[in-house]
Amino acid sequence: MTSLKDDTGATTAAQFPTAFRWGAATAAYQIEGAAGEGGRGPSIWDTFCRTPGKVLGGDTGDVAVDHYHRFPEDVRLMSDLGLTAYRFSISWSRVQPSGTGAFNQEGLDFYRRLVDALLDAGIEPWPTLYHWDLPQPLEDKGGWPERETAHRFAEYATHVHAALGDRVRHWTTINEPWCAAFLGYASGEHAPGRLDPAASLLAAHHQMLGHGLAIEAMRARTPDNRFGAAVNLYAVTPATDDPADVDAARRIDGLQNRLFLDPLLLGRYPEDVLEDTSRYGFVPADADLAVIGTPIDQLGINYYSRHTVAGTPGEAAQTASSPFSTHSPWVGSDHVRFVPAGRPVTGMGWEIDADGLHEVLTRVHRDYPEVSLYITENGAGYDETPDGDGTVQDTGRIDYLDAHLRACHRAIADGVPLRGYFTWSLLDNFEWAWGYSKRFGLVHVDYATQRRVPKDSARWYAGVIRRGGPPGRG
Ligand code: FCB
Repeated sequence: MTSLKDDTGATTAAQFPTAFRWGAATAAYQIEGAAGEGGRGPSIWDTFCRTPGKVLGGDTGDVAVDHYHRFPEDVRLMSDLGLTAYRFSISWSRVQPSGTGAFNQEGLDFYRRLVDALLDAGIEPWPTLYHWDLPQPLEDKGGWPERETAHRFAEYATHVHAALGDRVRHWTTINEPWCAAFLGYASGEHAPGRLDPAASLLAAHHQMLGHGLAIEAMRARTPDNRFGAAVNLYAVTPATDDPADVDAARRIDGLQNRLFLDPLLLGRYPEDVLEDTSRYGFVPADADLAVIGTPIDQLGINYYSRHTVAGTPGEAAQTASSPFSTHSPWVGSDHVRFVPAGRPVTGMGWEIDADGLHEVLTRVHRDYPEVSLYITENGAGYDETPDGDGTVQDTGRIDYLDAHLRACHRAIADGVPLRGYFTWSLLDNFEWAWGYSKRFGLVHVDYATQRRVPKDSARWYAGVIRRGGPPGRG
């Protein structure tokens, strides 16, 4: 690959701390492919992709970007970018095909080779143990709404940790439990595609229980490793100061943010959210909360956008482009609407609001002051086609990343213990229900040939890493 030298000058307007980690993120089902190779078993996403009408274009992760075979090339790309850390996920069904019982050495060996290649390149491996790809046999037994799944997860996590704990220091248990619970079990937009609000609350609870059980077991083996989870947080604003809108904002903030932050960081559920959802009969046991609230060393925050919500029924339709129109099936008749606030949007239709990231970071630090923070995902998806010479001039993505990094810098200046930033994503990849129609990568992938070509944003990000911050202006 040609060198990723940028031409934006040597100065930065926002110097990040020297030890700040600069990374990029991916997830197993979105990049690995090789779905039927190496002893991997089926996951709920294999099944979901084969259910007609669920994934745009009938796309699947069968091949994805073939990272399973091409990881040495991808590690070279990371090295050219100058990444100091790489966040990836481990496919449970590659490591333990049935989700229970026998482990698959070939699967573990793949991750060991990947980790070794990263370490050789001077890049810290940051694995996530669960990024939505539950082994199908566990879903057949009831999936995340079943308590047993939390125990199976802890067993799997412990096994992976035993295999890689000598070379991996930072561990993320679960990724965005909100999505896996509510898109997976309430709105049905993600695997396993169920429409069962009561089950979705249990799915949220048991993911967090699995997280706590896994950390207790892993920490017992290597107390000096760093453990945490990654949650997707939103800035939430009421559309007006009408009390109905203010209350809608409280409810959505409750479901989106506090339902996860409070148990994970304070060991308790927010009372108001339990009340809002009481019709579903969810009553968490205190003993579970003691496990869920086991101390974590780092919190991963995935940030993309802000929600503006209204609490009264009205003319404006729910924003179809917002993934969170999907709160509605289980907020039921609560008349929460997601209203457009008029900001520019990415190709996903998600409003761009970097100030929201600063707001989220300062809020998390204020309400949960003990924990170190990392941005474990942040990025912009577009429909992109390369120019004739194969380049992608993704100025929209560069502007997005630039603004969000400046928001991170401001948060650090305000005293937030933000220690690193992972952009989503290293490579274009399988974007869940959107299939291959949306591209988030710094590196363009031609899905027909698997050729990787760094976009302008890759050159830009390499420059950011080299100088320790986004470029100075003017
Ligand atoms: C997040 C997911 C990640 C990716 C981005 C765009 O919700 O964690 O896998 O799809 O959105």
